[in-house]
Amino acid sequence: MAIETIRWKNSRVELIDQRLLPGRLHYIACKSAKDMWNAIRHLKVRGAPAIGIAGAYGVYLGIRNSRAVRFSSFKKDLDKTVSYLASARPTARNLFWALERVEELVDNNRDKSVEHLKKMILKEAHAILDEDNRICRNIGKNGAKLIKKGAKVLTHCNAGGLATGGHGTAVSVIIAAREKVSRVYADETRPVLQGARLTVWELMEEEMPTTLICDNMAASLMSKGGVDAIVVGADRIAANGDTANKIGTYNLAVLAQYHQIPFYVAAPYSTFDLSISDGSGIAIEERTSEEVKRIGGACITVQEVDVWNPAFDVTPAELITAIITERGIIKKPDKSKIKKVMGK
Ligand code: MRU
Repeated sequence: MAIETIRWKNSRVELIDQRLLPGRLHYIACKSAKDMWNAIRHLKVRGAPAIGIAGAYGVYLGIRNSRAVRFSSFKKDLDKTVSYLASARPTARNLFWALERVEELVDNNRDKSVEHLKKMILKEAHAILDEDNRICRNIGKNGAKLIKKGAKVLTHCNAGGLATGGHGTAVSVIIAAREKVSRVYADETRPVLQGARLTVWELMEEEMPTTLICDNMAASLMSKGGVDAIVVGADRIAANGDTANKIGTYNLAVLAQYHQIPFYVAAPYSTFDLSISDGSGIAIEERTSEEVKRIGGACITVQEVDVWNPAFDVTPAELITAIITERGIIKKPDKSKIKKVMGK
């Protein structure tokens, strides 16, 4: 069974505080849009699909106490909450997709009472969570077909259950192909260590044969024939297939091409942004220098040094062997193939 990363309980949202893993599995409660904004911004909840689900629930938390009676004033409260939540993190398309989905629902039901609209928003957040579980399963099923018998698979960051409302995207592929996978390599994923802390924890809970490597060991592993396929998640995919994902993903794609290893991106419909023609238009979040300067609270450098800390990079579509979606596999992705699948 997939881990319950986000759940609705006792009229509040409960989230696993992912900053504490693997040491502690602890749920925190979010009772307001502000709690949810903080949870997203400070990576208590993270991973593109999970951020989308959290955003939808955050809208409900933000408007449930609205005193508006008329649609126009309710809509003002809604818009304010939506813009606030949208400012939590810039890169994952899923957050904006979920917020737009809730706004559209309200716009299409302006004849309903405010109390009815509030209930509809909560129901929509539940639906987004439920759907994500099914989507993850289908991504897994589709992606498993690409994994060969005995394969050693490398993944980066955490695109597992903790990043979604189900079994994950990249990790769902690995789990669905478990009979064929002889070993999974997890990149540690500096600076926040999502690979070492979260992916390793999830894979070991799933009893998958797992090996942790530092990010700078991937090239050496590939040169020794240690990797047969790479599967990663995505935060935003532009219309031409250029893909933003955790910093370090692009390195792997370049290495994969040199070593002739297939490089797969696993992502749901809600991660695609057809309004952006290519990767240069994707906003890349830059995070605090402290994330790089400190490990486990201890400073590992000269405190005053300048730091550059982009949270994501963009992998050009030409380096991607295929994008695995819940709707099917897009081999050698380009604008027309993506439009065809996403138009379904
Ligand atoms: O900064 P994070 O931890 O939110 O970054 C997460 C990733 O980059 C994941 O690979 C991506 O969101 C896909 S999750 C299914």
